[in-house]
Amino acid sequence: MIKELGKVAIIGCGNLGKSILNGLLGGGKFAPQNLIATKRNLESLQEYEDQGVLVTSDNAKAIAESQFVLVALKPHQILSFLKEFKELFTENHVVVSLATGVSIHELETALNASRTVFRAMPNTATTILESITCVCGNTEDEAVKERVKHLFDQLGDTVFINEDLMESATVLGACGIAFVLRFMRAMVQGGIQIGFSAEIAGKIVNQTVKGAAELLIKNGEHPEYEIDKVTTPRGCTIAGLNEMEHNGFSSALIKGIVASYEKIEK
Ligand SMILES: NC(=O)c1ccc[n+]([C@@H]2O[C@H](COP(=O)([O-])OP(=O)(O)OC[C@H]3O[C@@H](n4cnc5c(N)ncnc54)[C@H](OP(=O)(O)O)[C@@H]3O)[C@@H](O)[C@H]2O)c1
Repeated sequence: MIKELGKVAIIGCGNLGKSILNGLLGGGKFAPQNLIATKRNLESLQEYEDQGVLVTSDNAKAIAESQFVLVALKPHQILSFLKEFKELFTENHVVVSLATGVSIHELETALNASRTVFRAMPNTATTILESITCVCGNTEDEAVKERVKHLFDQLGDTVFINEDLMESATVLGACGIAFVLRFMRAMVQGGIQIGFSAEIAGKIVNQTVKGAAELLIKNGEHPEYEIDKVTTPRGCTIAGLNEMEHNGFSSALIKGIVASYEKIEK
């Protein structure tokens, strides 16, 4: 069990909050008694209460009883929440905002005191402990950063970035889940056209994508290095790849990422 992190409160335990809760509980390293989840309507959190998580609508109690406060409210709610409860945050609290597009400066201003504040951008793979969480904060205190990393490492992998890359992180890491899934859907459709049932095609594609990702993660190589290994001269892999490129495969992906970024920047 991770004792040194203290109690973790998740304020606004909706879709993202629940996937974090599932991840922390599923990893087996967090005792449910060290987790607090808040929401106004508590019906959807009953299963967590049954497991021993403190489930409450009382945000003040959650702040008072925790050391880590993860705020998973909607972006338009987070600043008023921090202003309302600013007196309750002490210098021992670590506040982590999960809200897209709300800057550290805005968070600090709402708290109206020098408090340790981070922004974190996980993705929905948090639920299965395979998120990549991009984090930035207002402190260079390595011990505190290590605690934050330790928390998000329970949900997958964690990378610290400069705040000016948080929107880019949203596109590549959070929207990226949808980009990869759409690519996988297209592979399944191709698989059906060349003879597989949807079920078997899905099984082959899921494991192939997992295997490709694991090759890069475990070997630490550039994708093209692994591609070279499977592209026999005059072979079927290079014929397929080049046909995809003639039709704008890489270009479409890059343009999509840039379009998402331009949208988020507005
Ligand atoms: N979904 C993602 O993939 C993702 C990824 C990265 C970041 N984010 C960020 O995560 C945040 C939450 O997104 P989401 O999709 O999880 O939204 P969501 O499902 O609407 O969750 C927010 C929850 O906050 C609760 N809430 C509202 N007011 C509250 C209050 N005063 N006190 C306590 N709880 C309150 C709501 O439940 P009640 O109405 O019952 O109170 C709701 O369930 C957003 O800021 C978003 O930018 C989301």
